[in-house]
Amino acid sequence: MDMSRRALLKVIVLGDIGVGKTSLMNQYVYKKFSQQYKSTIGADFVTKELQIDDKLVTLQIWDTAGQERFQSLGSAFYRGADCCVLVYDVNIQKSFETLNNWHEEFVKQAADPADPDAFPFILFGNKIDVDGGSSRVVSEKKAREWCASRGDIPYFETSAKEGYNVHEAFLCVAKMALEGV
Ligand code: GTP
Ligand code: MG
Repeated sequence: MDMSRRALLKVIVLGDIGVGKTSLMNQYVYKKFSQQYKSTIGADFVTKELQIDDKLVTLQIWDTAGQERFQSLGSAFYRGADCCVLVYDVNIQKSFETLNNWHEEFVKQAADPADPDAFPFILFGNKIDVDGGSSRVVSEKKAREWCASRGDIPYFETSAKEGYNVHEAFLCVAKMALEGV
């Protein structure tokens, strides 16, 4: 195969503890969901291949730990990232407020984004299935306002449990990451 038609893209997933980062990845890559909570320790990646136009894209998706003591993964980890996925839980206000910190942390650590507004971030508002949406505390409007204030970050509402919007959201990730390389 013509190597110019291949791309390896590094994607970093960040967000508070328990918002569903690992579950989103497992749903996307393995079509699996577990109610059981196993907190991620450190960071690890999975890969997923997909075809975008004439390109065979390999997404290398780095899952990170939301736990505070694992937060500073260091600049070596973030370096070379092609896209950063931020995740919050629409039912937990604090996980939305912390997005500022995750965004800032990434901008500080990643060597490349001289212009953070030009770097491809994307936001997932996860767990929209919980209680049929009645325990939701962060509105879609509020989330979209935050995205607008950070240079028009694309926004997807997802449910890792139901698989809702997960493929669409990661397809957007892949397209954005591909544009930058
Ligand atoms: P850390 O690794 O500790 O940072 O957490 P995480 O962000 O990887 O969260 P994880 O995917 O482990 O999910 C935490 C808990 O939320 C688990 O019990 C999941 O089953 C549950 N969960 C994740 N996504 C969803 C969702 O979309 N809907 C519902 N109802 N539960 C979810
Ligand atoms: Mg995890």
